[in-house]
Amino acid sequence: MRISVVGLGKLGAPIVAVLASKGFEVIGIDANPLFVEKVSDHIAPVEEPGLQELFTQHKARISATEDWSNAIGTADITCIIVPTPSGADGAFRNDYVLSAIDNIGRVLAKKSSYHLIVVNATTMPGSVGGPIRQRLEQASGRKVGPDLGLCYNPEFIALGDVIKGLLHPDFVLIGESDKKAGDLLESVYRKVVGAQADIARMNLVNAELTKISINTYVTMKISFANMLGEICDRLEGADASVVADAVGRDSRIGKKYLTPAIGYGGPCFPRDTIAFGRVAHLLGARAELALATDAINRRQVVRLTEIVTGMIPSGGTVAVLGLSYKPSTPVIEESQGVLLAKSLQEAGLVVLAHDPMAQGAAQTVLGESVRIVPSTREAVQQADVTVITTPWPEYAAIGPDWAHDGRRRFIIDCWHQLDAQAFAGSCAVVRLGQQVTMAASTKRLAAE
Ligand SMILES: NC(=O)c1ccc[n+]([C@@H]2O[C@H](COP(=O)([O-])OP(=O)(O)OC[C@H]3O[C@@H](n4cnc5c(N)ncnc54)[C@H](O)[C@@H]3O)[C@@H](O)[C@H]2O)c1
Repeated sequence: MRISVVGLGKLGAPIVAVLASKGFEVIGIDANPLFVEKVSDHIAPVEEPGLQELFTQHKARISATEDWSNAIGTADITCIIVPTPSGADGAFRNDYVLSAIDNIGRVLAKKSSYHLIVVNATTMPGSVGGPIRQRLEQASGRKVGPDLGLCYNPEFIALGDVIKGLLHPDFVLIGESDKKAGDLLESVYRKVVGAQADIARMNLVNAELTKISINTYVTMKISFANMLGEICDRLEGADASVVADAVGRDSRIGKKYLTPAIGYGGPCFPRDTIAFGRVAHLLGARAELALATDAINRRQVVRLTEIVTGMIPSGGTVAVLGLSYKPSTPVIEESQGVLLAKSLQEAGLVVLAHDPMAQGAAQTVLGESVRIVPSTREAVQQADVTVITTPWPEYAAIGPDWAHDGRRRFIIDCWHQLDAQAFAGSCAVVRLGQQVTMAASTKRLAAE
C-alpha cells in the first residue's frame, strides 16, 4: 500500500517516518520546496528525537515530490497534515486544508481507483463532513462513498515525544465517512499500533469534537492544579503538591496532569481549549469550563510576574530558564517562558534567558530587550531571581555551589526539580504553591 502525506512539518514528517518503518511506501509533498528536498534526501525536516534515525533506517520506502500528480496519483491513501491556524475568534481556519484539497481533487478527477483522504490536521467540528467534503467533491468531480473515502484522524502527540506517541498511543481515534473508509484506515493502524490497540471509530463530527474535548479536559486538570497552587501560595502551612498528589489518588480523578506548576503552552492545548469555547458560542451553547480554564492559564504569567517583582531588589536582574513550551523541543509557541520573559521585561526588569534548544526562535520573538545567555550557570550567577519555567533535566543539576559570592539570590522552582534544603545558606529556593517557603523568602528579602 502506498500512502502520500501532504505537509511535512512537525506532525507530518514523523508520520512519514513511522509509516515507512511499518513497511508502507510513503511519498511526501509540501508547499515548502526545502522540506521536499530534505525528505527526498532523507534528512528530517524538523527537530524531533528519533526522527532522523527512522528516516535513515527506512529511506528505501521514503520519497518526496513537488508534483501533485505523482504524490496523489500513485497512492491509495492521502493524509493531510497542513496548518489549521486559529482565527481571531479562536476557530480553526480551513484555508490550507482546502488549498491542498483543490490540488488533490484535480488529480483524483483523472484517477478511477478507490482513494482514501485522511484529514489529520485539527479542524472545527463539522468541517470535514461539511466544507472539506464539499470542496473535495467539487474539485474531484467524485462523490464521497464507495469510490472515495474520507476520514478524520487526529493525533494526540506531544512534541519531543512524537515517535513514541505515534507508536504507542492510549487509543487511536478514527472519524469515518463510511465503513469502507474506516476499515481501510484501521488496517493501516493495526500495522502501526498492533492488533490489541484500542481504536475508537465514529462519525466525522464526533471525532472532531472528541479531539478538542480531550485536550480541553486535560487543560482543565492543569488549570485546576494551578488554581490550587495560587491558593496554597497564600494559605499558611499549605503545599499544593501535597494536596494535588492526594486528590489525584482518587481513581475518579487520577494524577496525570494534576501538577501545580505554571500554565500550559504549545501548538495544541491553548488553541484547542479556546476553540472548544468557540464551538459552544457558535451553537448558542455555553462552555464556561473551557473559558475558565483559558482564563486561569493566562493568569499564570501574571501570578509569576507578581511573585518576581515582589521579591526582586530595585534594579535587579531576573533569569528565565526554559523558553521552549516543554522539554525536548525547540518549539516556543505559547510558551510560558517566553510570555514570562516579555512580561518581566515590560515590568521594567533586566531579563536574561536560557534554553538548551529554543534560543534562536526565542531571540527572534523577544528581540534585543532580553539577553539570551549560553549557559545555565551564567544565568543563575548573574541573576538576583531565577525562574525555572521549563523542566529541562539539566536545570535539576543547578547546584548550591554555583552561587557562593555572598550575593542574595532566589530560585523560583516551578517544577520542584531542586532540593530546597541543599541550597540553605547559598540561595533561597522557592517552590510555587508552597506558602511557607514563599512567606519566609519574601520576609527575608524585605528585611534586607
Ligand atoms: N504539532 C503538533 O504537536 C500537533 C499535534 C496534533 C495536531 N496537530 C495539527 O496538525 C496540523 C499540522 O501541524 P504541524 O505542527 O505539523 O504544522 P507545521 O507548520 O509544522 O507543518 C505544516 C506543513 O504543511 C505545509 N503546507 C502548508 N500548506 C500546504 C499546502 N496547501 N500543501 C502542501 N503543504 C502545505 C507547510 O509548508 C508545513 O511544512 C495542524 O492542524 C495542527 O493543529 C499538530
